[in-house]
Amino acid sequence: ARPVPVIAIDGPTASGKGSIATAVAEALGFVCLDSGVLYRLTAWEALQQGVPLDDSDALTRLAADLPVTFAAGGIVLNGHVFDAAQLRTEAVGQAASTIAAIPSVREALFALQRSFRRAPGLVADGRDMGTVVFPDAPLKVFLTASAHSRAERRYKQLISQGIPAILADVFAELELRDARDTQRDVAALKPAPDAQLLDSTDLSLEQTVEAVLALWRQSV
Ligand code: CDP
Ligand code: CDP
Repeated sequence: ARPVPVIAIDGPTASGKGSIATAVAEALGFVCLDSGVLYRLTAWEALQQGVPLDDSDALTRLAADLPVTFAAGGIVLNGHVFDAAQLRTEAVGQAASTIAAIPSVREALFALQRSFRRAPGLVADGRDMGTVVFPDAPLKVFLTASAHSRAERRYKQLISQGIPAILADVFAELELRDARDTQRDVAALKPAPDAQLLDSTDLSLEQTVEAVLALWRQSV
């Protein structure tokens, strides 16, 4: 039997991975995995329990035992139902990128991520979907956009959600997280050798989704 196909979408923060992955999965009827949520959930739990963000043993246990279920109503951890906004705060994002640099935390989340690979196919977004988690994915997209347009997108997204934000702060936080994600020793953010680079700086969401679907049609 042929392996279940995977479309891996990696890239820096606010490049549009989540929105694009969701729309592509919907268009193809594929399962969708936002792998960043798993790092965010582990970070959220650590902040909640007061686990120091450099205690790799405790953090690895948290990641390995993450009692998470993905239900229609949202993500459920320990009976707590999350709405997306709770996990998407910058504080949780920075904590997620801090713990994501610990190799044993990444290993603890490996099997869980791979369990999302189900017929008819999977669209997975993150930092290492094409390089580490699904190295045999038939389509790998490395999504970029200039730091300025990414900061503006994130800023507009926050404001539209009623979250107060300052563009200069959003830009500084984005650069900090980019640096941490590209410079770490394990699963650093970089395109897989066989990834298609897609720069969405001057593309709308719809145009970017179309570009990914066109790459998919070419690859099958
Ligand atoms: O998942 P990631 O952090 O890479 O990005 P996202 O949350 O999907 O996108 C960040 C924001 O940029 C969202 O509000 C998107 O609607 C917006 N966006 C855009 O305006 N144009 C694009 N080509 C892609 C995303
Ligand atoms: O949406 P955004 O790109 O801002 O963040 P995210 O995808 O939710 O990821 C939050 C953090 O988790 C990132 O800054 C990464 O450090 C980490 N992460 C990772 O290391 N590997 C992944 N596959 C996904 C996320």
